[in-house]
Amino acid sequence: MIVAGGIGLAPLRPVMYHILAEREQYGKVVLLYGARTPADVLYRRQLEQWRSHLDLDVFVTVDQATDQWRGSVGVVTKLIPRANFDPGNTLAMVWGPEVMMRFTTMELEKRGVPTDHIYISMERNMKCAVGLCGHCQYGPIFICKDGPVFRYDHIQHLINKWEL
Ligand code: FES
Repeated sequence: MIVAGGIGLAPLRPVMYHILAEREQYGKVVLLYGARTPADVLYRRQLEQWRSHLDLDVFVTVDQATDQWRGSVGVVTKLIPRANFDPGNTLAMVWGPEVMMRFTTMELEKRGVPTDHIYISMERNMKCAVGLCGHCQYGPIFICKDGPVFRYDHIQHLINKWEL
């Protein structure tokens, strides 16, 4: 399962390419993507192409629709209960704004996805990128040096604290 919010889809696009190139290596694939408005939806042509694959489930939603929008409206987490997947046998990659990842991981947990099957990508202001300046510090960890991708159970105690 791939859950992307906003520009979080950009780093996950290569993941989709890889999955498609090695399709037989993977089971069910679900992509959930949320953007702020229809104008903010990234890679429209690609999303349409992926949607046309019979062996991919692709859902797109926007927070604020326009008159022309015919798709889902609401935050990306609302798509999780609608998606059909086997929670105990799912690996999830969640990329997007911190608040979106916080609520997405909560929803995935609610569906029964084990926390050690969820990966998130943290972003912070970085400067040195080698663990010296402290700009990217998140509690006891440095995003630049220890991440930016974390297994959720390794960072869960931090992500559920606001304003860290
Ligand atoms: S960017 Fe300087 S410590 Fe991470």
